Amino acid sequence: MNEPNNPNSPAPSTRRDFLKKTSTAVAGGALLGSLSVERGAHAAGSDTLRIALIGCGGRGSGAADQALSTAGSVKLIAMADAFKDRLDGSFNELKKNHQDKVEISDDHKFVGFDAYKHAIALADVVVLATPPGFRPIHFEEAVKQGKHIFMEKPVATDAPGVRRVLAAAEEAKKKNLKVGVGLQRHHQLGYIETLKRLHDGEIGDITAMRCYWNGTTPWVHPRAELEKHAGRKLTEMEYQMRNWYYFVWLCGDHIVEQHIHNLDVINWVKQGHPVRAQGMGGVEVRKGPDYGEIFDHHAVEFEYADGSRCFSYCRHINGCWSDVSEHVVGTKGSCHVGGGRGEHTMRDVKGESTWKFKGKGKDPYQQEHDDLFEAIRNNKPYNEAEYGAHSTMTAIFGRMATYSGKMIEWEDAINSKISVMPRHFAWDAEPPVKPRPDGWYDHAVPGKTVVI
Ligand SMILES: NC(=O)c1ccc[n+]([C@@H]2O[C@H](COP(=O)([O-])OP(=O)(O)OC[C@H]3O[C@@H](n4cnc5c(N)ncnc54)[C@H](O)[C@@H]3O)[C@@H](O)[C@H]2O)c1
Repeated sequence: MNEPNNPNSPAPSTRRDFLKKTSTAVAGGALLGSLSVERGAHAAGSDTLRIALIGCGGRGSGAADQALSTAGSVKLIAMADAFKDRLDGSFNELKKNHQDKVEISDDHKFVGFDAYKHAIALADVVVLATPPGFRPIHFEEAVKQGKHIFMEKPVATDAPGVRRVLAAAEEAKKKNLKVGVGLQRHHQLGYIETLKRLHDGEIGDITAMRCYWNGTTPWVHPRAELEKHAGRKLTEMEYQMRNWYYFVWLCGDHIVEQHIHNLDVINWVKQGHPVRAQGMGGVEVRKGPDYGEIFDHHAVEFEYADGSRCFSYCRHINGCWSDVSEHVVGTKGSCHVGGGRGEHTMRDVKGESTWKFKGKGKDPYQQEHDDLFEAIRNNKPYNEAEYGAHSTMTAIFGRMATYSGKMIEWEDAINSKISVMPRHFAWDAEPPVKPRPDGWYDHAVPGKTVVI
């Protein structure tokens, strides 16, 4: 259920396995018309923290599992998903693993596009783990209802969405809500120690950076298989929601959905976001009607305010060099910041090894939940939404550069009015992109596509 640091690790198939396990049986889960229960947001040390899971897929189920494994009394009391089969499969797994900690009656299982509102209303802490296109809407609602939040990365798929998240993050601070974002490297001991050394100047001023998410296709749900399974034709909205990875409004493209992790580490090193970007990308190999509109490779040069540049590469093409890692060069040496092979090491300017991380931290997915729940119980300041939004925007910025082929300024990118989202959500509503008569989807065309 977790995402790998190494694209060849078995984690994606674990996700697939989880999908396979999900039952198609339909249980309760009727949508309640009106629930107005607003819970107190802050629980004292010994209180039971009630959790609602919104988006019951691979990662949502993993995050719920980790939330239920934190110290103190916790209960999963509500679940929401667009699809009943996803919710039921996740519920069965979580119930099997956590038994009494999962206490959800059928009328607290919510299905459909509005399900999130009802589940959020019942909880103290919400886990937001749908595809990222919905995150700004769900995050805004959770803040409005005064709940503590764990939300998966990315936190949006376009600039208007990022701005909504930034505005809601300010509200969350005013309401003293704790917000965790699933950029788990911030909770991974090797990264924490490496970043401390970099910020303490161990290799001098950082003058060049590079990062990679070069791997393979995580999964695809072909329309024919989905329709065979359903025993009927799917509406275009249903199809895109099931095969969400390949649609920009839902996923953001893989530069946003996966490569965000590496770009986030570079922003963390630089303690800021890039100011300018240009790049190139396209679809070279992964072609066909079931692969939607996203690219299969992107290469972007990001410039930071001090003039230093980050060279970023992400690729989803089988049979090529795979690596997921971040590296930086400073005036006094270089550092393999993390990921890939030989992570968390430093060298001097002559290339001699000067340091290697030898510690052993907890699984960062568990650690990020431990840290959030500890902050909630002890009322410590905790708000990762701002850097989560800036890292999301950095990845969207990169996509804007590769889709347009232009040199783009951060200020223009983050203030872009172009929304990729549908106008409204319903199973028969029109998604923002539709297939051509031959079933294929159009891709961005560098030099022609307008992004700001
Ligand atoms: N931090 C990490 O390492 C990591 C790892 C994997 C996934 N993720 C992130 O987690 C999120 C989910 O990814 P996943 O792999 O679990 O996908 P998934 O397809 O397994 O799960 C997504 C779930 O959300 C549901 N959903 C879709 N729209 C919804 C809506 N409007 N309301 C309620 N439910 C809705 C889907 O039906 C599905 O069950 C993504 O943002 C992804 O980037 C993060």
